[in-house]
Amino acid sequence: MFSHSKIEQNVILMLVLILITVSIGGLVEIVPLYTVESTIERVEGVRPYTPLELRGRDIYIREGCYLCHSQQVRPFRDEVERYGHYSLAAESMYDHPFQWGSKRTGPDLARVGGKYSNEWHAAHMADPRSVVPESIMPAYGFMLDRPLEAADIAERLETNRAVGVPYSDEMIENAAADLEAQADPEADTDDLLARYPKAAVGDFDGNPALLSEMDAMVAYMQILGRMVDFTDVKPEDLRQ
Ligand code: HEC
Repeated sequence: MFSHSKIEQNVILMLVLILITVSIGGLVEIVPLYTVESTIERVEGVRPYTPLELRGRDIYIREGCYLCHSQQVRPFRDEVERYGHYSLAAESMYDHPFQWGSKRTGPDLARVGGKYSNEWHAAHMADPRSVVPESIMPAYGFMLDRPLEAADIAERLETNRAVGVPYSDEMIENAAADLEAQADPEADTDDLLARYPKAAVGDFDGNPALLSEMDAMVAYMQILGRMVDFTDVKPEDLRQ
């Protein structure tokens, strides 16, 4: 047994013991991360983003929406009653980087998909006070006029694949076509929907003539929280 005074009077001994203590603490934090692949439960319905949703997500990050909005419903009663089922780890497993956020100046957006119409989103984004008079959210009207830059969309999908998102060769080959089809009310979207179930399709920004940044933004908003079907899930099922 070491007595405290012995340790405190011997610098080398103290150093060795500190190193041992810190490395045990470090291992406890680091080792579980190696098994993270098997720690995230697989949940039916979670799929990679469509090319259009992915570009919307890029704009979300570019504009810093995460500074005011979280995307994580915590497992507390007040949150679940307000936003819906608490978020599962699997729901953001294809987010690079994830958008959980830590600030809620505005509401959580993890389950905003399907809550409002496309028209509402476009109007709200362009001028929040036109639909929510007391809103303090900034206006993003410029997204209506800015053509969506997406010449590199296939490369963007490939990059996501490199970090583990299961984009298939077929998805990458059709990336540009899928991007256009999702926002084109005239397009045949059967293939797109077979590749990406539940994607919202049609004109998102109220202007079918232009594929705008707003189209991408609203397509992204409309998928949030909708991939997993929670209608049959009881809270007990998710407890282990
Ligand atoms: C300065 C903080 C701030 C920023 C930045 C911000 N918002 Fe908001 N947002 C709010 C507030 C506050 C509300 C609640 C009032 C309202 O509905 O406008 C809100 C509401 C929303 C809603 C409606 C949510 C609901 O459930 O009713 C959506 C969707 C939304 N924001 C999307 C975005 C997107 C997308 C961006 C980035 C382009 C963004 N916000 C940037 C503050 C912000």
